[in-house]
Amino acid sequence: MTLSSQAATHAFVERPALMLRAEDVRKTFTLHGQGGIGIEALAGVSLDVERGECVVLVGPSGAGKSTLLRCLYGNYLASGGSIALRDEGAPLQHLAITGAAPHDILRLRRNVMGYVSQFLRVIPRVSALDIVAAPLMARHVDEDEARERAQTLLARLNVPRRLWPLAPATFSGGEQQRVNIARGLIARHRVLLLDEPTASLDTENRAVVASLITEARERGAAIVGVFHDEDTRERVATRVLTLEAPGSQAPLNEAA
Ligand SMILES: Nc1ncnc2c1ncn2[C@@H]1O[C@H](COP(=O)(O)OP(=O)(O)OP(=O)(O)O)[C@@H](O)[C@H]1O
Ligand SMILES: [Mg+2]
Repeated sequence: MTLSSQAATHAFVERPALMLRAEDVRKTFTLHGQGGIGIEALAGVSLDVERGECVVLVGPSGAGKSTLLRCLYGNYLASGGSIALRDEGAPLQHLAITGAAPHDILRLRRNVMGYVSQFLRVIPRVSALDIVAAPLMARHVDEDEARERAQTLLARLNVPRRLWPLAPATFSGGEQQRVNIARGLIARHRVLLLDEPTASLDTENRAVVASLITEARERGAAIVGVFHDEDTRERVATRVLTLEAPGSQAPLNEAA
């Protein structure tokens, strides 16, 4: 893959608030099992996110919102374009996610960028409390302090205290989602990527999540998120980016 050399940008030096820059990001999936059909999921998205901003992605189902977030997090390798994240201490104060070594991506996930998906990845036999505290433990925060912060967040998100010592496999969808949000927010990452974190929550808990997101933003986090409900979008967005569904060059067989 050829990366745009503009990625070697001075923007992170010149703009101290800039946290994330995506330039002309493209993503095409090749369905090897289905005749190598190419699905164009992102057709050139550019985005700068500064500290204290919450950019809300909107667009129809299939427009590539989740795909963009996964590219930003380094889960998917972009097929073209470039993505750079502020990395204090690195040359020109940023690291290109596109083309970064896996250990650099893992380091940035531990220290700089957090991601909350719609569903919790349940780990058998690990308690909700430990799942939430884990990102702090990974940073060698004192165990008692990590647990205490986890408890504070779980309480704030109305996860019943009796559930804290239990593994979340048996929790309801909304309870699992709140554990997931607590885990995603506990480490106070400077960049947060949120993919429909409130989809299975009731109105009251959606409002709690909106407040937590706003607090993170006011602390200076740079946030990119997708929110299925208008109410949450309006509460948290400082800016909206609309993604259009790219014209599919190789339409799938409708009978699939
Ligand atoms: N791993 C994958 N393999 C193949 N195609 C994929 C993959 N992930 C996403 N796609 C395709 O890319 C396109 C964009 O999907 P994406 O999940 O990013 O949409 P979205 O905007 O998040 O939609 P929704 O609002 O329904 O969540 C879709 O056409 C989807 O089928
Ligand atoms: Mg999605």
